[in-house]
Amino acid sequence: MKLKNPELFQQANYWNGQWRQSSTGEVIEVDNPSTGKIIGQVPSVNRAEVADAIDVAERAFQSWRQEPAHTRAKVLRKWGDLLLTHVDDLAEILTTEQGKPLAEAKGEVRYAASYLHWFAEEAPRNYGDTIPAPKTSQKIIVQKQPVGVCGCITPWNFPIAMLARKVAAALAAGCTVVAKPAEATPFSALALAYLGECAGVPGGVFNIVTGDSAMIGDEFTENPKIRKISFTGSTRVGRLLQEKSGRNLIKLSLELGGNAPLIVFDDADLDLAVKGTIAAKFRNAGQTCVCVNRLFVQRSIYDEFIKKLKVAVEALVVGDGHDEGVTIGPLIHQKAVEKFQKHFDDAVAQGARVICGDGKANGNFVKPVLMTDGKPSMMFCQEETFAPLLVAVPFDTEEEAIQLANDTPYGLASYFYSNNISRVMRVTDALESGMVGVNETAISNATAPFGGVKWSGYGREGSKYGMDEYLQVKYVLLGG
Ligand code: SIN
Repeated sequence: MKLKNPELFQQANYWNGQWRQSSTGEVIEVDNPSTGKIIGQVPSVNRAEVADAIDVAERAFQSWRQEPAHTRAKVLRKWGDLLLTHVDDLAEILTTEQGKPLAEAKGEVRYAASYLHWFAEEAPRNYGDTIPAPKTSQKIIVQKQPVGVCGCITPWNFPIAMLARKVAAALAAGCTVVAKPAEATPFSALALAYLGECAGVPGGVFNIVTGDSAMIGDEFTENPKIRKISFTGSTRVGRLLQEKSGRNLIKLSLELGGNAPLIVFDDADLDLAVKGTIAAKFRNAGQTCVCVNRLFVQRSIYDEFIKKLKVAVEALVVGDGHDEGVTIGPLIHQKAVEKFQKHFDDAVAQGARVICGDGKANGNFVKPVLMTDGKPSMMFCQEETFAPLLVAVPFDTEEEAIQLANDTPYGLASYFYSNNISRVMRVTDALESGMVGVNETAISNATAPFGGVKWSGYGREGSKYGMDEYLQVKYVLLGG
């Protein structure tokens, strides 16, 4: 990696304001999913070290929570600014460890900065309430206080934005954080910590540990100093965290798997729908929780829509994310490739017709696939594919489309295209998901509440709702 500021590439952990190696000497090697080459290593900490980082965060909490909200805001604003100043280097690190095209990586860095900037603005707006009391001699005051030390566990698909989204809200609220980034992509998180230090985040307020996921999860859930866990990842792990954190009654936010439907009605602007489908399905090579996973197209416009979609899918360019013009990078690892192939083979076996792509892989690279004649019994309808595979399923009526869209235990995002305002209102109400994109699939932004229902979890990130996740209500009765 050629970085203007090589200090951004830290092969260490960070707690108590210090860069550290593990006492065990154990490391995790990180590779570039495009080339398979090792790009660096990070420590694999032991449980005592995780506990130490939590102790440090607990001590820092006592002073950070006392800082005026405007001081916390100033630090967050500067941190966001620094992300933008270093966008090229951060994108380089991100593309090298995660694979996404450089343009997308830069977009993710800006997206991460937007959370730091948004929550810098929200910190001084942590309003309480006064409530008319039952007696004249009384006053009721409601104030919102930070919950305490937060354990934040983040995924590999958006390694800088998902961490910024959590830590910005937590720090704005007055909490402190011990973060555990995904093993596949720790360097973006460590670069974020480095810039946090430059922005003036006091030692102990934001800490990062890398190591065995299960062990760190156990320490987060069993250490009574952890008062909040925010997790983005699979439903399977979300369930485990919920079970394990029950004993300490830890406040949880779980942003889990999705299985987003996109419905194209016959009254839609088809060109707009094609654009939205491509953006939402193939962003990050299909490795996004809010990616379109199931495409439902009304039969009367089915052939015309598929024809337009085929042209757009064929225009996608697969390759190393560093290369000019590439729009689809590699999948993160071979397990992801295997899942893509399993879903491809299953759809073919159940009668789907291949329009483009071939289900073959070259290392971690796969060509984007478009298929037609999909059925709800196919694997891609049952679970997230997390890869660039799109199968269209025809439908006849609005009722049928809604039934198909809701026929999943997941409920993160859903999308539909229609120019009929009555239909827009009906379908918006009927869809079972935490987020709905109408005639638009770029739904993620710092000002809006991101999160799901059903097996996609609970809690919201971003927006004014996002800060509530890190606050608790204290009611004070002034009497006498
Ligand atoms: C995710 O895949 O979990 C988040 C993507 C986004 O914020 O849009």
